[in-house]
Amino acid sequence: MAAHHPVEAVDHRSHKFNPHFTETVINATGPNATPRVRKIAASLIQHIHDFARENEITIDEWLVGLELMNEAGRMSNDRRNEGQLLCDVFGLESLVDEITYKLASDAKDEPTATAILGPFWREEAPQKKMGETIVSGIESKDRTWMHGTVADFRTGSPVEGAVLDVWHTAPNGLYEQQDPDQPEYNLRGRFTTGKDGKYDFYCLKPVPYPIPFDGPAGKVLQALDRHPYRPAHIHFILTAPGYKPIVTQLFDRQSKYLEDDAVFAVKESLIMDFKPLEGNPQAEFDLEMDFKMATFEDAKKHAQAGPTEESASGLNVKI
Ligand code: BEZ
Ligand code: FE
Repeated sequence: MAAHHPVEAVDHRSHKFNPHFTETVINATGPNATPRVRKIAASLIQHIHDFARENEITIDEWLVGLELMNEAGRMSNDRRNEGQLLCDVFGLESLVDEITYKLASDAKDEPTATAILGPFWREEAPQKKMGETIVSGIESKDRTWMHGTVADFRTGSPVEGAVLDVWHTAPNGLYEQQDPDQPEYNLRGRFTTGKDGKYDFYCLKPVPYPIPFDGPAGKVLQALDRHPYRPAHIHFILTAPGYKPIVTQLFDRQSKYLEDDAVFAVKESLIMDFKPLEGNPQAEFDLEMDFKMATFEDAKKHAQAGPTEESASGLNVKI
């Protein structure tokens, strides 16, 4: 622990608040903090102190913020991640996604753009065979045949052994873990490509839905006069040996809320056309998407940040 020096006497005629206080807190960091922790903590302390000073935050206001965070903690469990939801309504997960994958732009021949994970991904989605459906026990006129190829963005070669982990809500706007009426792991599946890199499966054309607004994130949205809706989308995580994982979402071009997604995740290159499908008794719509992945080596060459090969190997455990 570094020694704490008493806060020096301050001339309050020239400064409204003690000008040395933030420095004193930053300098309290001990010698054993790692360089990254030291740097991030110093920056965080500086920003939150500046925020409090600039806005002259009072104790009552600080307590409101504190209670939002505490309530988020109390509400969170393995089916609900309210802390993440709070970050999402402030755009923080989308910003961190942009920073982490800064070169996954929507330019042609770039790897597929990324989008936030969100709080509803579940590990261990059922492994399925190509051509199977992820829909169980739902009558719908929006059945969709989704298909395409997973390829290397630079060489165009098909990627063998790519795992496409997919999930979306039911037509009632709920993910299965939010809905006691849906079978466990409904509307989730994992598909593994063969030599040709191709995949295909059946799902539903998704619907717009509100993010849960019965907790602190909802209170924030209400205070900011904002709605809780997300545009219709399907989530994906693509992983493949030697390739940088891609966490992304595809959006329906016909959906409401593309312009004002409650969590700021829409990217132009991820907006897709669900085309009417003729002659297939199993589906009414066709969705074609070719995913493009970058090897870790290429990703490094293009100075892409994001998971390293080592950190990504733990992706199946904790993302
Ligand atoms: C989602 O798309 O699943 C999601 C993302 C952010 C907040 C809530 C839900
Ligand atoms: Fe979602």
